[in-house]
Amino acid sequence: MFISSLSIKRLVSRALILSFFVLPTIITQAQEQGVHPQSTQYEWPADPAVREKLEHWRDQKFGMIIHWGLYAVPGMIESWELCSEDWISRDTNSDYGEFKKWYWGLKKDFNPTQFNPDQWAQAAKDAGMRYLVFTTKHHDGFCMFDTKQTDFKITNGPFANNPKANVAKYVFDAFRRKGLMIGAYFSKPDWHCPYYWWPMYATPDRNNNYDIRKHPSRWAQFKQYTYNQISELMHDYGSMDILWLDGGWVRPLETVTEEVKGWGAAIPAWSQDIDMPAIAAMARQAQPGLLIVDRTVHGPYENYQTPEQRVPDKQLDHPWESCITLGNAWGYVPNDQLKTSAKVIHQLIEVVAKGGSLLLGVGPSPQGTLPEPVVQRLAEIGSWLKINGEAIYNTRPIQGYQSGNVYFVQSNHSKSVYALALLDENGPVPATIEWDVNTPAPGSKIKLLSTGAPVKYTVKNEKVIISVPSAVQKAKGNPALAFEFIVAAD
Ligand code: GLC
Repeated sequence: MFISSLSIKRLVSRALILSFFVLPTIITQAQEQGVHPQSTQYEWPADPAVREKLEHWRDQKFGMIIHWGLYAVPGMIESWELCSEDWISRDTNSDYGEFKKWYWGLKKDFNPTQFNPDQWAQAAKDAGMRYLVFTTKHHDGFCMFDTKQTDFKITNGPFANNPKANVAKYVFDAFRRKGLMIGAYFSKPDWHCPYYWWPMYATPDRNNNYDIRKHPSRWAQFKQYTYNQISELMHDYGSMDILWLDGGWVRPLETVTEEVKGWGAAIPAWSQDIDMPAIAAMARQAQPGLLIVDRTVHGPYENYQTPEQRVPDKQLDHPWESCITLGNAWGYVPNDQLKTSAKVIHQLIEVVAKGGSLLLGVGPSPQGTLPEPVVQRLAEIGSWLKINGEAIYNTRPIQGYQSGNVYFVQSNHSKSVYALALLDENGPVPATIEWDVNTPAPGSKIKLLSTGAPVKYTVKNEKVIISVPSAVQKAKGNPALAFEFIVAAD
């Protein structure tokens, strides 16, 4: 569809203003205010099929979360600027009503003619990623799948006639072909749906904007809308492993604990209950064993927990995943600053040693491709994992999981224990690596995974000292060394 040069100019100048001045602040604030902190309670799922899938998922360790929606068009933070909470800064010249109109109107400009899900899937595969979570709908309510519940969707705009217009379907298919587990991100709150944000009232914060106790039938329509959309995703998009539900403030009132109050967001006096038992029953009938991640709502539908933009301080003994962005933003922002691959590898190692998985966030461009610097970072991560992946995948946490900057995990199927020593990406490789937990069995070998050869080591007063082979010391830029050994019996 035709985009006027005026609207392009507007978008470009807006993107520039946003990326240089406004975005870094909004992103930092969003990371503090819009985030889901780590929850403290966990309930193991009762359904054996779910337990089985959960164990399988725990072997995967490394996934990709893709945020892609209307917000990619101007390259701004995902959805949040629509929300009228006072931590959100918008362009001071725009009024809120006009801003919203402009935002909803982005649907006319979203025409990702270079949409290439195979490139995304290949990049994920090359990174050593083993599962995907894709935004089928973010808080703004714009659907990246061909829902029948609304016209506010990618299949109803300039992209409608593209053979891959039903974007979510092609994303899921491409990643499935590469053998990754498949997860659908779905926002419970929907700021475009008139049953959530009733246009008759102002929208002062992230919550639904009417008293559900006074308008139960309106909320019933929202529940139906949500149920129907999730049902479409669970029935029409092939086999699904994870339903990743974001927007934890949409929850039954009785689950609003002190922990939830601590988020600092407004808590309405009514219950934003969408009837998760009904949704879960329907979803699991269509997708037996489906993992449901109703973020921060402890209980049977939070099959693993999801601390955001951080790694927990300590090892946790239940399933969890840190979702962390590769850049500063979840979605595409021009010239976003990316973490180094060494930093990501260090986070992955720490996460895995503490018993979790790492879900790394990337955002495709408005044209539909992953930016080249992102692809390059992913490939760097993958080349380390190709050599050292044995110490990451299919492992489980071990009690002594850390000694200085050396982390430990154990194999899920053999007696092997792995030590992962983080190296300073800019500094020299040390001549020795030391730790004082997990003493090797007397007379046993310690093998360096990257060469497959045993290394020289000594044990004195429970301190293990490994001599790093000189060739390994000379190789620059290695983010971490992995060693395999058998631990002495107690
Ligand atoms: C937070 C943000 C949301 C983002 C999500 C990804 O909940 O509010 O915008 O999609 O994190 O983990």
